[in-house]
Parts: sequence; structure tokens; C-alpha cells
Amino acid sequence: MRSKLLLSSFLGLNGALAASGVPVGMEDALTTANMPSEFLEDVYFVDHVPLMALQADPRISYALYIPKAHYNPDPSKSETPKKLPLLVYIHGTGRNTVAIYDELVPFADSAPCAILSPLFPAGMDGPNDLDSYKELKSDSLRSDQALLQVFDQVAYRWPGLEMEKVYMMGFSGGGQFAHRFMYLYPEKLAAISIGAPGRPTFIDDTQDWPIGTKDVKTVFDKTVQPNVIGKLPIQLVVGGNDTEIHGDEAFWEWKKNVLGSGGLPPMNETRLESIKELRASWEKLGIKTQFDVVDGVAHNEKGVREAVLGFLGPQLKKSS
Ligand SMILES: *[C@@H]1O[C@H](CO)[C@@H](O)[C@H](O)[C@H]1NC(C)=O
Ligand SMILES: *[C@@H]1O[C@H](CO)[C@@H](O)[C@H](O)[C@H]1NC(C)=O
Repeated sequence: MRSKLLLSSFLGLNGALAASGVPVGMEDALTTANMPSEFLEDVYFVDHVPLMALQADPRISYALYIPKAHYNPDPSKSETPKKLPLLVYIHGTGRNTVAIYDELVPFADSAPCAILSPLFPAGMDGPNDLDSYKELKSDSLRSDQALLQVFDQVAYRWPGLEMEKVYMMGFSGGGQFAHRFMYLYPEKLAAISIGAPGRPTFIDDTQDWPIGTKDVKTVFDKTVQPNVIGKLPIQLVVGGNDTEIHGDEAFWEWKKNVLGSGGLPPMNETRLESIKELRASWEKLGIKTQFDVVDGVAHNEKGVREAVLGFLGPQLKKSS
């Protein structure tokens, strides 16, 4: 039974929870509630948690930063069970997650919030794979389901984190993942910052995923609901000088010849242009956004960070 569950979960075919309500592979797991709280630092369950494999699919891992001073290891024992909100940081194509170890730490300490940084390695879908996680579905990966499984594993081990709804930020490739995840799971989000997604998906019933959303029911067994998405606080953010196209025509032609033309289309517009189109298309559907264009900044995640945290900070405060 257990191996069957593990296998089907690895293939992304089922939900993340076994019948017992224990996430796959977490049957014997220590949690912050079932161990002495004075040892939490000794097992690395607070402050910087080491990159941890997702038990249901160890190709995926996640780092966590949990400010110890603000974390309650077992809210069920408190009279006022206050949980710490969680901000999910989605990396870009470079898989650079260093922000969780430096830039975002003072923010987490003061917000306060915990930060979760999942890692979807390149190469999961073959030796030349860079993009599969952004599209949510590829031959061997459902990155949306993998993230939900990460959420289940984290919620189980860290009951003091608020996991009903989480905050999310992603820039570039991370912004691509983030807005696609929002289309499918708006009910999981409290607020979201989407930065410079080069090749976005539009809510468009005439084109298939990942360009449009025509086949979302078949591919994901989901319906995109603009009225639900429209209730979310959403930031779209881009550098005012994010006006270069990644790769020239010769590059995209070469890539198509060598790797085929599946998945995301070639980039034929600047990120400043495509984010404006995305915003306008959402407005027609009643989805309002806070649109921040940061002057003088090119395609640079750190360059827009202040604007991102300026949006997320007050949203996090609302939750406390
Ligand atoms: C860019 O490509 C998309 C689809 O691949 C197409 O719909 C769009 O018209 C193109 N835009 C330009 C400016 O060529
Ligand atoms: C940003 O773009 C403007 C207009 O093209 C240009 O004048 C300016 O030098 C650019 N700034 C930076 C920091 O690259």
C-alpha cells in the first residue's frame, strides 16, 4: 500500500495526503509539536532550515527561514493559537535562491513571516530542460502538485505556520510559475507579487496551455475563475528598463531546430511589453492589479525588491 502511494504520488497522479492525513513519507517524521521545543535549533527546525527533500518526490527540495522568536512550535497548546504567515519565494530560471539567506531575512524578522523557497532543479525533464517547472506540467513533472505536496509536508512538520493561504513572490521564471499557479489555485493565496514574467499565459479560451487556458480542464482538471482571482491582492512589477528580449532571433531559431518547438513560445516581446499586455487583459476580466514599473531598472530581481516588499509588507501586516 505504502509503495503504491509513493509511486502514484511520484507520478503526480494523486493528492498529497495519504488516507491517514499524514503526507506521503512523513509517517515517522518529527514535528515541532511532537518533540521538546528546547531542541528545535539542534535539529535545524528553526531559523535556517537546510534544503530538505520532498519525501513524495526527492527531486524537489525546499529551504525555509523561520524566525525563531516569532514561531510557536505547537499552537494547539496555546489559548490564542497564532500562526506565523508564510511567504513562498519562487526562484527564476537561474535557480538562485540566495535571497532567502540574506536579503529576505531582515524582512522576515520584521514582517514577521516565515519564508519557503522550493527548488525545482533544471534537468528534471531531460538533460536540456530549463523551463519545465514554469509551465506546471511537463512529461515527468507536475510542479503545481509538487508545491502543494511541499505545503503539506511543511504544514505537518511546522504546525505553527499558517498554511491555509500563503503569500507568494516570483520574478522572471519565478513570475511565470507564480501567475500560472495563481490561475489554478487562487484559493491557496493571500496575496501575490508577479515580477517580469517573460512569456506569460493569458486567460484565453482560444489557445492551449501554456499560451492560453483553453485546455485547462483537460490538462489540470481545473477551471480558471477570474472572479475568484480578482479578489486577490496582486502586484505586477517590472523594471522600467526591462526592454531587452532574451536571446535574438537566431538563438530562438537555433533552439527550435535543436530542441523542438514544444512548450513556451519564443520570446518576441520585451518583458515590459508583455506585462503591460497581461495587465490590460486581466483588467478586461475584472482582475485589478497594483502595477509597479521601477524606474531605471533592467531585468534585475534585486532592482525591484524594494517595490515587491513594499507591496507584501502591508499585506502581511493585515494578516496579523
Ligand atoms: C509573439 O508570439 C505570440 C505567440 O507566440 C503571438 O501571439 C504574438 O502575436 C507575437 N507578438 C509579436 C509582437 O510578434
Ligand atoms: C533607462 O532607459 C532610458 C530610456 O531608454 C535611458 O535613457 C536610461 O539611461 C536607462 N537607464 C539605465 C539605468 O539603464
